[in-house]
Amino acid sequence: MKFDTPATTNPIDQLKVIGKPLDRIDGRFKTTGTARYSYERHDVVPNPAYGHVLGAAIAKGRIKSFDLAAAKSAPGVLAIVTADNAGALDKGKNNTAKLLGGPEIEHYHQAIAVVVAESFEQARAAAQLIRVDYQDDGGSFDLRAGMADAKPAKVLGGPADSAVGDFATAFAAAPVQLEQMYSTPDESHAMMEPHATTAVWDGDRLTLWTSNQMIAWGVGEVAKTLKMPKENVRLVSEYIGGGFGSKLFVRTDAILAALGARAAGRPVKLTLQRALVFNNTTHRPATVQRIRIGADKDGKITAIGHESWSGDLPGGKPDGAVSQTRQLYAGANRMTATRLAVLDLPEGNAMRAPGEASGMMALEIAVDEIAEKLAMDPIEFRILNDTQVVPDNAKEASKESQTVGSASKSELPFSQRQLVQCFQTGRDRFGWAKRNPKPGEVRDGRWLVGLGVAAAFRNNQLTKSAARVRLEQDGRIVVETDMTDIGTGSYTIIAQTAAEMMGVPIDKVVVLLGDSAFPVSAGSGGQWGGNNSTAGVYAACIKLREMIAQKLGVNSAEAAFTDGEVRTGARGVALADAARDGALSAEDGIEYGDLDKKYQQSTFGAHFVEVGVDAATAEIRVRRMLAVCAAGRILNPKTARSQVIGAMTMGVGAALMEELVVDKRRGFFVNHDLAGYEVPVHGDIPHQEVVFLDETDPMSSPMKAKGIAELGICGVAAAVANAVYNATGVRVRDYPVTLDKLI
Ligand code: MOS
Repeated sequence: MKFDTPATTNPIDQLKVIGKPLDRIDGRFKTTGTARYSYERHDVVPNPAYGHVLGAAIAKGRIKSFDLAAAKSAPGVLAIVTADNAGALDKGKNNTAKLLGGPEIEHYHQAIAVVVAESFEQARAAAQLIRVDYQDDGGSFDLRAGMADAKPAKVLGGPADSAVGDFATAFAAAPVQLEQMYSTPDESHAMMEPHATTAVWDGDRLTLWTSNQMIAWGVGEVAKTLKMPKENVRLVSEYIGGGFGSKLFVRTDAILAALGARAAGRPVKLTLQRALVFNNTTHRPATVQRIRIGADKDGKITAIGHESWSGDLPGGKPDGAVSQTRQLYAGANRMTATRLAVLDLPEGNAMRAPGEASGMMALEIAVDEIAEKLAMDPIEFRILNDTQVVPDNAKEASKESQTVGSASKSELPFSQRQLVQCFQTGRDRFGWAKRNPKPGEVRDGRWLVGLGVAAAFRNNQLTKSAARVRLEQDGRIVVETDMTDIGTGSYTIIAQTAAEMMGVPIDKVVVLLGDSAFPVSAGSGGQWGGNNSTAGVYAACIKLREMIAQKLGVNSAEAAFTDGEVRTGARGVALADAARDGALSAEDGIEYGDLDKKYQQSTFGAHFVEVGVDAATAEIRVRRMLAVCAAGRILNPKTARSQVIGAMTMGVGAALMEELVVDKRRGFFVNHDLAGYEVPVHGDIPHQEVVFLDETDPMSSPMKAKGIAELGICGVAAAVANAVYNATGVRVRDYPVTLDKLI
């Protein structure tokens, strides 16, 4: 089904099942321990051997020699695979560094060997016996030191700089100016389930039960890396204990489980030990950002500039921290620039809302700062500078237009943009009027109390997605698609979609996900999963409805699918009748035209935070939070709310706790476990409220829905930092905002 004109009324609009706060249908399996994760597939792989990965002990250099003798003769050892005996491997196109390193080492804890043994303990013990002689070449590990040599990201395949109008002149002439530097640290996804795979070979065919967000990408990467045809690779990912971007691409666990299983002639299961995850897999790269905003005396932005520096391995990508600054606030003169330094730290890559998450951490403090210079309420300032068209639609800046650019010719409107309404709704609900604009004035016992606000912004991406839907003889509807559920609620919203479309109760729908044997879906990433995957199911259901109508001899345009029946006028036939001669199966998907080129599709929100800061110790406590979101139709308010409160929690982590500490001599993240890498726990998050504005977006898909999972994190950290400032009068611009920075 091609979606290229705005959606009109369709069966989803009945809202009998869609839009209801239904419990997650996978919830019971997860809480009762009956959901099988990739490391637990004893039901299909009864007798696996165990793989244990050895990571490199240097950041950059070479393996001069391996001594494997002691490990090979250790009890239970079946095979040891290194780059020397793995056979020829290619590099996946989504990995900057090789998933099996050696003899060159590209980063600390890059995998250099997998030991396969009869038991987990034997594999782990044998891995400790491997002796490696390294040539250590040092490396560059300090972003601030690397900034001077950073290159325009465009040159390295990253985003181009942009310019509209004449930023330099307008900024210099602005009566009120803000110029500040901000920084965000390296961060880790820290999902609950580590990367894990069970690998089985059947001749030259490989099946991987693996924890992965994007099944079809994964099949391609495995096939490319192992130099085998895609047709011979099957990926299955039924349950996933969190991803946040770290499982967008297959990692070491998948490749080394496959290689280990081939070498041992046995199925192998392998999980990355927690201490390896932080340096072996990807992370959100640290940024240094410079923001300049010029405004006239009335508070209108006349010039806005945002530059960002981040680092990655040679061939890697920058953090896209400036992207939202091209779209969020009005202003005639603007520039953005992205710079990339070469660092020999582990690979930087996508983590929840890559780009906007770190960019908004800086931008939304800067906006607070200039509002204060203008003696304006920060919400009033944001409302005054709202825009209904994309203010920087310029393709890219030429060298000259860095200083003298030209405005884009075509104006690109937003399909929906209720940012102002988010602020207005939240302002009343949160009691913003009680905020004292003068910092450090409000006390509650020993606590200094402050309120903070920030905008949330994240784009909505359209990507094709397919599904197969079957009417069984017993009247059940079975949905098959390779969409994944990374804890987001995909199982549930897909079941709701099929139930709505086919007119059956939700318990008559069976949803099967995460198997490359099924039609290729959008997958889970970039908050595109919910809208696109359900739209794909919608398309397949439309096709199945036509098949059913034909079988029953009714006109599909006039038929209503409701209460387990197909009704035309007064006549109703049981849906299951259509399958009396055998199940009916339809496969289709959603494909998009260019609606997203005619309308910018984005999601919006406003975050409100109240903090208390201990007047003596500077201990920071979040007291309450509110998010107001405008993100298209909310398919399930319960799962959507869970996404947002999870994202708000992650935003508090980014604001107050999370920081991968770089050992700048040896080039690795020191705090590589969940004791040293701190994330919020329940006690840190006392009260959260989420409000969804009533919205449907006919440009997004027949579902009229948009993404929500990444919107929820964008801006949160700045709202916390702004609240801390309001409480104390101390402006912290380098995250995380820890108590030592307040005293
Ligand atoms: Mo997301 S960082 O695209 O999983």
